[in-house]
Parts: sequence; structure tokens; C-alpha cells
Amino acid sequence: MKVAVFADVHGNDHALDAVLDDIEKERVDAIICAGDMVNPFPGSERVWRTLTARHIPMVRGNHEDYILACHAPASDLPIRRNPQFLPVEFAARRLSTGTTAGIRALPMTFTLAGPGDDDVLVCHASPEHTSRSYCTGIDDDLAADLSRIGPKTIVGGHIHLQWQQLWRDKLLVVAGSVGLPFYGSGVKAQYAILTHRRDGWQVRHKSVAYNHQAALHDALNSNFLVEGGPLAWLMFDELLTAELRLVPFLNKFCPTPRPGSLPEWQAWVKRYLRAIGRWDALQPLLEGHSRPVAPAGGSCPLSGPPPGRGRKMPQAADGGQ
Ligand SMILES: [Fe+2]
Ligand SMILES: [Fe+2]
Repeated sequence: MKVAVFADVHGNDHALDAVLDDIEKERVDAIICAGDMVNPFPGSERVWRTLTARHIPMVRGNHEDYILACHAPASDLPIRRNPQFLPVEFAARRLSTGTTAGIRALPMTFTLAGPGDDDVLVCHASPEHTSRSYCTGIDDDLAADLSRIGPKTIVGGHIHLQWQQLWRDKLLVVAGSVGLPFYGSGVKAQYAILTHRRDGWQVRHKSVAYNHQAALHDALNSNFLVEGGPLAWLMFDELLTAELRLVPFLNKFCPTPRPGSLPEWQAWVKRYLRAIGRWDALQPLLEGHSRPVAPAGGSCPLSGPPPGRGRKMPQAADGGQ
């Protein structure tokens, strides 16, 4: 039996197209998506429609949680009217009511029946949490959660890197990210192929080239950098460079308590981008208010630094996105 698992598309439909094409060549028996299908990039609605049209089972990620929080009626929710969550509002505004209803109905986990009851459980970060990954450390609570799970193979996403590790009698896997890969992976879309052999499930991590320029083009021409606010500047630079921006900014650079107004957030993000040498590359786009750039397939006028090599895991509480 052969299965494809992918995660963290984040509305990058160009990367999803490439991964689905590659999966077709692999001739798998099942395809499963491990969460964070949507948000923040402008292809979110198309990503959802593509996955539902193909009847690909999906589980809920923390970015689906954010979308639902945006649609919650209570105006006192902290996610509402907070400049930090403008990218979520950007994505939520572009999703149809049918898609939002579909997101609301997503399960936390999906269990694939494997040969001889050697099942695979697919979740986003861990079986009972959408933003607490087994990849960044297993405390007593998470150990208890994992021990309650019947399947011995657990596959998730959230951390945006390709990873696997044996823990007690379980094989824990992170399938990487389709639309927003990090950790020196370059800008290739990532996913995992699991093949069942005599001794259990074996994992093969794959990286697939996709039309990265088209993804950048869509983000710039959708007003993402304006409507998404300063946090969108960081996420766009992540899409551009495959380097972490958001988690290091929030956990290491941004003051606590957090800035209040939009100008304060803008000032802190600008300060951070200057500190890491990225402001000069991004400033022309921000001043141009997302003016059109090279057409899809053409070359982007931005030049990011080469993707990091041997990048260390962030020391974030969560470490994922
Ligand atoms: Fe996530
Ligand atoms: Fe993610």
C-alpha cells in the first residue's frame, strides 16, 4: 500500500498543483492533507476547491482555526481588529461561505486503514492540538495524548520541515510544507510518500519544483501586502526566500506586551526587516502598494538571499506555522 500525505499549503495553489501532479506519477492508493490548507495566500479558495473536488480527506490546522475565529460573531475575540491578524482577515474575506462551512466541519484527525491493522493517523500538529507539535518536544501531556492513539504511525505538518523520529513504539513523521517550506529547503514544495512493507510503514520525503514566480506574482497583485498589514510583509518574505520570518519576529524581536496600533506594528516589523537585511528588498514593493510585477513565469524583480543552509530549529514555544 502506498499513501501520499501533504500539509501546509497555505493558499499556495501553484505549489499544490505541482505536488498533485507528482503524486499522480507515484500511483498511490490514498492521498491525505494534514491541515493548514488555507491562509494567508490568495489561492486559498482555489486550494480548498481543488482538494474537495478530488475528495482528498483533510484535517484541521491552526490556520483553519484562525479563519473560523475571524468569522466568529463575537466582536470581542482577540483575533478581531488586531493588526497582527490582518493576514487572516485578508484570507477569510476571500473564502466563500461554503468553504468556511467546510472548514468548520473538519475533523482533528483522519485514520487511514493500513494492511493488517497497521493504520496511519494523520493530524496537523499533534492528535489533540492544532499548534503543538510532537516535533518540537514531547512533555508529559503530549506523551499521554500520543500513548492513547492506537495507530503506530502518526503523520502531521505544522513545522514546515521534513522530519521523522521513532518515539517509544511509534513512528512520528512531519510531511513538510507544500506552500511555505522553511529550513533551507529552497522553494520546492514538500510532501511525503508512505509505503507499507513487511516491517511496517516506510517514509520517503519528496521535494517538487513549482511555479514560484507565479505564487509571488499572485500575492503581490492581490493587494496582500497592503490589506495583510506588516505581518503579511514577513509572510511574503517567507514565500520569497523559504526562510523563517514570522516566528523569530514574534518570539525574539517583537516586544511584550505587543504593539497596539497598526503604525506601531509597522514600525516594529520595519525595524526587524532592517535588522536582518531584508528591508531594502521589500521596501520598493511596499511603497509601490503592490504594483504589478513580472507576469507568472517571468522573473521577479526581487532577489532574496539564498535559502539558509543547515538552519537550526527555532527556539519558539511552538515553532510551527
Ligand atoms: Fe500550522
Ligand atoms: Fe502551516
